[in-house]
Amino acid sequence: MGTVWLNNAATAFPRPPEVIEAVHRALVEPPVEPGRSTGGADPTVPCRRRLAELLGVDDPCRVALLPSATHALNTVLAGLLDAGGHVVASTLEHNAVLRPLAHRVRDRGLRVSWVEPGDDGRIDAVDFAALLRPQTRLAVLLHASNVTGAVQPVEAVAARCAEAGVPLLVDASQSAGCIPLEHRRLPGRVFLVAAGHKGLLGPPGVGVLVLPNDRLPQWMVGGTGVRSEAQFHPPELPLRHEAGTPNLPAVEGLAAGVAWVAAEGVETLGRRRAAAVRFLREALAAVPGVRTVPAQDADGRAGILSFVVDGRPPEEFAFLLRSAFGIELRAGLHCAPGAHRRLGTLPLGTLRVGVGPFTTREDLEALVDAVAQAVQV
Ligand SMILES: Cc1ncc(COP(=O)(O)O)c(C=O)c1O
Repeated sequence: MGTVWLNNAATAFPRPPEVIEAVHRALVEPPVEPGRSTGGADPTVPCRRRLAELLGVDDPCRVALLPSATHALNTVLAGLLDAGGHVVASTLEHNAVLRPLAHRVRDRGLRVSWVEPGDDGRIDAVDFAALLRPQTRLAVLLHASNVTGAVQPVEAVAARCAEAGVPLLVDASQSAGCIPLEHRRLPGRVFLVAAGHKGLLGPPGVGVLVLPNDRLPQWMVGGTGVRSEAQFHPPELPLRHEAGTPNLPAVEGLAAGVAWVAAEGVETLGRRRAAAVRFLREALAAVPGVRTVPAQDADGRAGILSFVVDGRPPEEFAFLLRSAFGIELRAGLHCAPGAHRRLGTLPLGTLRVGVGPFTTREDLEALVDAVAQAVQV
């Protein structure tokens, strides 16, 4: 029994052959490490340039390549919040934001104002802006919820944060490569984070931080391979926030993934995912005992759909889908407990489908058939 991978919101599978080839090449050819080996062009350059084109960034040096989206988020949160202060954030955020905030609430007296989404899963930009204060040091909002796929009004929120002079951290971990978003179109001081291994189709081990044109205080510092005589970490981008030997196979794989996404077109990929989600939403809702959450038709471009089955714990149901039908999806809270509080799906969470660019109609039909059979077991 082969595996039907419908867990692309966790990590992309399969990946384009170009990504595998790039990772392989990076491992079999003599490494060219920036500043650490002689000869050869810096392999991080094409990756930064392609990401800058895809994410609408004028200067590729403002694209930092970090070990994960979690590192990228922590870089901003540590840089701006280590002295405490006040933050506005949505309750939809991932634990990669919630936990760094919680630690600063516990340890540094940070205060957080939380914004709840409406029944459509979207937060309201006016509600969000109403919580900004003169002491607010940062606003945080994800672009697409990793539980419902609901797309948040980041442009409107960025405009209001810019008016209030508050920096905005946009977590595009689930939307980069799926939903167009250009950093240059977001007014104000905006930090944009993307995961390398989801919609951008790179390998795990690399995350992206797009920085505004100013100096975020440094958090992770260390070796850079250049200017070893200096006591302090280089202050200029892109090295400013990059410490330690870079994960070059992942960076080169990501460059290939981004090239593949750009050639297909982010809008086209988003439209395909949305069509798949629409199909699934209708087909699954027709299975007795199955309920998609939220009930309304949400924006499917991130390729995410959550559902629950009456009387069946999601983990147990996912195990059945995996073991009896070879279908992989994710069950539980998906590291976003606040989203489930709002949806009423605590403590067990949901089953989450994550559609990718290689998901076929047969994969979707296999899931619907499997769910229809599994509800009767
Ligand atoms: C919305 C969101 N933010 C952040 C992350 C963290 O990504 P990573 O685990 O790759 O650091 C995820 C991963 O699932 C996510 O969905």
